[in-house]
This record gives sequence, structure tokens and C-alpha cells, in this order.
Amino acid sequence: MATKAEKPNGKLGVMVVGLGAVSSTFITGVLMTRKGLAKPVGSMTQYDKIRVGRGENKKYLHYKDIVPLADLNDIEFAAWDVYPANAYESAINCEVLKEKDIEPVKEELIKIKPLKAAFDHNYAKRLDGDNVKDCKDRWDMVEQIREDIRNFKKETGVERVVVLWAASTEVYVPVDEKIHGSLEALEAAMQADDKEHIAPSMCYAYAALAEGCPFIMGAPNTTVDIPAMWELAEKTKMPIAGKDFKTGQTLVKSGFAPIIGTRCLGLNGWFSTNILGNRDGLVLDEPANFRTKEVSKLSTLESILVPEEQPDLYGHGNDEDTQYYHKVRINYYPPRNDNKEGWDNIDIFGWMGYPMQIKINFLCRDSILAAPLCLDLVLLSDLAMRAGRYGTQRFLSFFLKSPMHDYTQDEVPVNHLFQQYVMLKNAIREMGGYEADEEID
Ligand SMILES: NC(=O)c1ccc[n+]([C@@H]2O[C@H](COP(=O)([O-])OP(=O)(O)OC[C@H]3O[C@@H](n4cnc5c(N)ncnc54)[C@H](O)[C@@H]3O)[C@@H](O)[C@H]2O)c1
Repeated sequence: MATKAEKPNGKLGVMVVGLGAVSSTFITGVLMTRKGLAKPVGSMTQYDKIRVGRGENKKYLHYKDIVPLADLNDIEFAAWDVYPANAYESAINCEVLKEKDIEPVKEELIKIKPLKAAFDHNYAKRLDGDNVKDCKDRWDMVEQIREDIRNFKKETGVERVVVLWAASTEVYVPVDEKIHGSLEALEAAMQADDKEHIAPSMCYAYAALAEGCPFIMGAPNTTVDIPAMWELAEKTKMPIAGKDFKTGQTLVKSGFAPIIGTRCLGLNGWFSTNILGNRDGLVLDEPANFRTKEVSKLSTLESILVPEEQPDLYGHGNDEDTQYYHKVRINYYPPRNDNKEGWDNIDIFGWMGYPMQIKINFLCRDSILAAPLCLDLVLLSDLAMRAGRYGTQRFLSFFLKSPMHDYTQDEVPVNHLFQQYVMLKNAIREMGGYEADEEID
């Protein structure tokens, strides 16, 4: 039986890396909800009800009635950013929310001034802000972030801190076994100032875990998705989660692909394209940054509709005729700002191979979809820490586009939305002192 989570005592600090569209929408929404002026729609921790107990003992309860979640009133925010705009200015500049939904919490937002970022221009060439730390080397970068966390704790008196990456996607850092394969090698590379293999995000993650804070990777960066960080998370007994918030198109994909799979229809191709015009889109317009996103977005379908398992259904469509054709594209288109438009064209086939098409056109709002995920990931990581869970938190895969998994052991990530939901519910049950009771099959 897994451990029950302990009740929180003091306040929960949430330190967000990046104070852009997602973070400012997340923070503003929490503050507005606290005042009773907005509803946290889309947040599982605030709305979902799940069954606990069986037979005549069965009850459907909200998460907070099963596990001791931190209360929204007990959250204190801080952030780092490359640009000096405070959370109010950022919320206004990003143009996600209307002024009427920001003004009532203006005073609180103004107080959230970004700490200097641990930043390396080579990891996001389209950004050129000057609110940046002056670091001797990568190890010094870690030390400075650790000091920020300690200062935040001292100044606010928060009992616990969760660090959430909601900063820009960095350029793709392929996993290099020699550097990322063990904690010792990672630390040596940080000390040797190996800028090529140590992304700034790794310094944030290292600092967070070393200071006893869970770390969540909301972008597709490989940061904590490497054996060295798994080792650090084991050593410090801290939860880690990642990677890449599952918001629009991939949410649809992980919910829709099971329809094709369950119904035993065939797939010839799936073409996904997006237009968006926010700063995220600008950064992703750089091919090296897009590569990180592409790797993350492509993985979803391949683990739900597996060609090797059903060659008749999924074994055709691309050049080598071994698999359906799967493409993902992101196009920077400024007029749309945060209002992303995603198109999916799905070429399926049925009885005797006769072709059909499905078109999905999702006119979504990126940060409106991401904000509740930030809240849920933060609250559930804090809960996991109090339940003594550490290392990769697979039950959080539900919220993530490219869930972390131990690829060194050939472990396959669970991308199927409904299997992920079972994992989430079971973890909540266990942390509430109930039995996990549904098999994943
Ligand atoms: N909104 C979504 O639907 C969604 C979904 C999945 C992932 N994401 C990811 O979430 C992240 C945030 O998205 P956004 O729309 O808020 O982007 P944004 O560009 O509005 O904000 C990101 C902020 O991070 C800052 N930043 C970059 N590097 C930094 C560093 N090293 N330290 C501190 N700050 C840094 C930038 O200056 C910027 O203000 C992106 O990586 C995006 O890919 C978003």
C-alpha cells in the first residue's frame, strides 16, 4: 500500500521560470479565483470528482476531499524572467486576458517582479532581454538559483516550494550518455562549464531538487528527462514531472487516437498543423527550438497506434510503407497572438481498405488551456512530495505531451488519455489512503 500524503502546514511557494503568457495567465487566474472573481475552469484538482471505495462504500469525491491538497489561499508566487516586466505588465502585454480580468488583482501582480534569469542566448536566440544573471560558469548558475530559492523562502516564510518551468522552449539538447548518464558526470560538466550539454533549464532543475523542491518541466526540453536528474531526484527524494504541457492539439490527439485504435480502423496518415503568434510561436519559429517541440509532439501517436502490433492497420502510408505518415508543423503567424488554430487532417481507412477522412479544426487559446495544467501540476507535485513519492511521477502523464519514462529500461510512455486518467485516479486514491483498484490494460 502506498503512503498517504501528510497534511500541509504552512504556505506553498510557487516559483515559475518564465513570466510570459502561460505564467501570467496562471498566476492572474489563481489570484482572481481567490477573490471569487473567476472560476478555475479546466483544473482537475478544483473540479474533478473520482470514485473511492467499492460496493456500498463507494463515494464520488473532489480531490481535496480525498487528499490534503494545498489551498489556493496558501500560495505565494515568484518568477524569473529574461525581461524585467512584472506579472501585471506581462499579463497586459501578452493580451491573453482582458483588462477587466487583470485589474482587480493588479496590486498583487505588480509585486511579482521577475528575478534575474539564468539564461544563455544560444538556447533561445530570439530573446534578448537584459534581466539576466551574470554567471561565471554553469555551476555558479546553479548556486545563484539556489540562493534565489532560499531568499524567497526566507522573505515569504513559505514552508515548501515547487519550481515550474513555463519559460521558452530551449534548443534541442540530444541526450548524451557520457554527460547526462550519471549525476557525477552532470555535476562535472556543470563545473567544467560545458555550455553545449548543460542547458540553463538543467541548472534550474538541479537547483530546485538540491533545495528540496519538486521540479516540473512544462516545455519539451530534455532537462529532467535524463538519468542524471533521475539520480538527483532519488538522492534528494524529490518528485519530478515532464515534459511539455498537453494543451490543445496533442490533447485532442491523445483522446482521439484511441477511437481509431479501439474501433480497429486503419490509419494512413495524420497531418497536424498550427498557426500561432505569441512569443512562444516566435521562439518555435527557430528550427533548433522547433526540433525540441517536434520530437515531443510526434511521440504521442506512435505509442498509441503501434505499427509493429497492427501492421495491417498502421503499417502503410509513408515512403518505406512501414508506418502511417505523421507530420507536425507549427507556423508563426503574428496576427493570431495566443489564439492558436490547429488543423488535423486524418486519413483513415475501413472495411476492405476503403479510405475516409476526418478533419479537426481547433480554435483554441494556448494559455487558457495551459494555466489549469500549471495549477494541477504544482498542487499534485507538492502532494506527491508530502506522500513521500520521488523521482518521475508517472501519474502526472495525463497533463503532459511527452511523459517521462525510463527509456534506458525500454519502458514505453503511456500516452493514451484514458489510461493516463486511470493512473491519475489511482495515485490520488493511494495518496488518500484508499486502494488503487483499476487495472491498466
Ligand atoms: N501554452 C501552451 O499551450 C503550451 C503547451 C505546451 C508547452 N508550452 C510551453 O510553455 C512555455 C511557455 O509558453 P508561453 O506561451 O508562456 O511563452 P512566452 O514566450 O510568452 O513566455 C516564456 C517566457 O520565458 C522567458 N524565458 C526564456 N528563457 C528563460 C530562462 N532561461 N529563464 C527565465 N525566463 C526565461 C521569456 O523571456 C518569456 O517571457 C513554452 O516553452 C511553451 O512551449 C505551452
